Amino acid sequence: MIEDEWERLWNAALKEAGLENASLISSSYQDPGRRAYQREDIIYKLVLSEHAITGWKRAQDLRGEFDVLKDCSGISGVPEALEWNKRATVESLALRRLRGEPLSCADIGTLRFIMVLLRLALVIVRIGKRGISHNDMCADNILLLECGGVALIDFDQADRKSLAGALIGSFLGITSGGGAKVHNSYGSLIKDFMKRKLSPDTVNFIKGVMGKNKLQRIPELPKDASAQLKSVQWAWKLAQSSDASSPGVQVAYYSYDFQGSHFPGERPWKDRWQVLGNITDFNGKRVLELGCNMALLSSSLLKEKKAKAALAVDIDGKILESAKLVASALGVMPKFRQQDLDSPEDWETELSNFKPDLVFALNVLNWVKDKDRLIRFLGRFNELIFEGHDSVEIESERFRKAGFKDIRLVTTTERSRPVLHCRK
Ligand SMILES: C[S@@+](CC[C@H](N)C(=O)[O-])C[C@H]1O[C@@H](n2cnc3c(N)ncnc32)[C@H](O)[C@@H]1O
Repeated sequence: MIEDEWERLWNAALKEAGLENASLISSSYQDPGRRAYQREDIIYKLVLSEHAITGWKRAQDLRGEFDVLKDCSGISGVPEALEWNKRATVESLALRRLRGEPLSCADIGTLRFIMVLLRLALVIVRIGKRGISHNDMCADNILLLECGGVALIDFDQADRKSLAGALIGSFLGITSGGGAKVHNSYGSLIKDFMKRKLSPDTVNFIKGVMGKNKLQRIPELPKDASAQLKSVQWAWKLAQSSDASSPGVQVAYYSYDFQGSHFPGERPWKDRWQVLGNITDFNGKRVLELGCNMALLSSSLLKEKKAKAALAVDIDGKILESAKLVASALGVMPKFRQQDLDSPEDWETELSNFKPDLVFALNVLNWVKDKDRLIRFLGRFNELIFEGHDSVEIESERFRKAGFKDIRLVTTTERSRPVLHCRK
């Protein structure tokens, strides 16, 4: 289904639920049939009954989550469940909004983090006493409240356990008594925090010591492998040895299946393409891709979506060599340009001369030093697709200021990053 069809389904569902004027606050990368909206002080978690696909991954459906939250009612640090509703196409759970910022977006010091852990421990014990274990304490699900407190949100992995079972699960991450799986615990929170505080080099060093930096194996090819398959194999070797994914780590940015072989990497291209390739109609468009890495996007838009032309730009010469090999294996030829977006030369004019209809800037703003300069450049164009590392509110505001009027959250990626479609 392309994005417009999803939008039609969602518009109909919002109308049915009487939520036409609610604003979208999150949507799921893996499951476009799930979203959260906000109106005034109420958050609505919505599921398109016929289209949601990840229900089986959750311990609770919306009705179950409502019941769990009702069991916790009155506990400070747990959202108040207001209403559960099932209509013809859409199920909804209404929650009183807690004002605060997810721990994943907050830049806090070690002392404050310790305070957060202590406050969180109180919430865990209180819900444990009511026989509930949250089971998914990732940084996205911890809110630092404006009033100074801490709240646990998103109870779709929660289940009922004894107090002992809930405490063992929450603090030690151990699933006990055949209950629902513990996905994230206190331990995962501490690990995430340390990762964010340490420099990439230190993290890579620790990974190395723990044996987690192992080279991902690129498959051997049969003797009669096609020339295209050999090109892709070489492209992956180059990508692994470049610093364009995780500097210092031998890993390609994408994993990719080609002619029956699996090439390993950090992010499955299939899932990414399923979303990116359907955001809009690319037919006849000229596309500029900044920080293109292996340029799978530019090449796929030319090959599969009838884009008219693509210019793929990256700072890293080795990754561009890799990108050219992939493009030739796919039988397309984007233009390539090695360019440092922080260089003092006037690359803005050079890139504008390509006259793009649409610009992609996915996970590149976080790499450049002069962010304001890149944002000003993006503001020159009429259509932008952007993936950033900040919250949807911060990123949207950024591009509203740059002159975009119609800004839509397309999805939240598997790395909890917003993808925005911005138009003027
Ligand atoms: C994390 S990858 C993102 C790949 C792709 N845009 C995506 O999200 O699927 C970031 C890319 O930006 C490139 N990059 C980093 N700093 C850059 C700079 N100053 N100028 C141009 N490209 C840069 C890196 O080489 C890398 O390929």
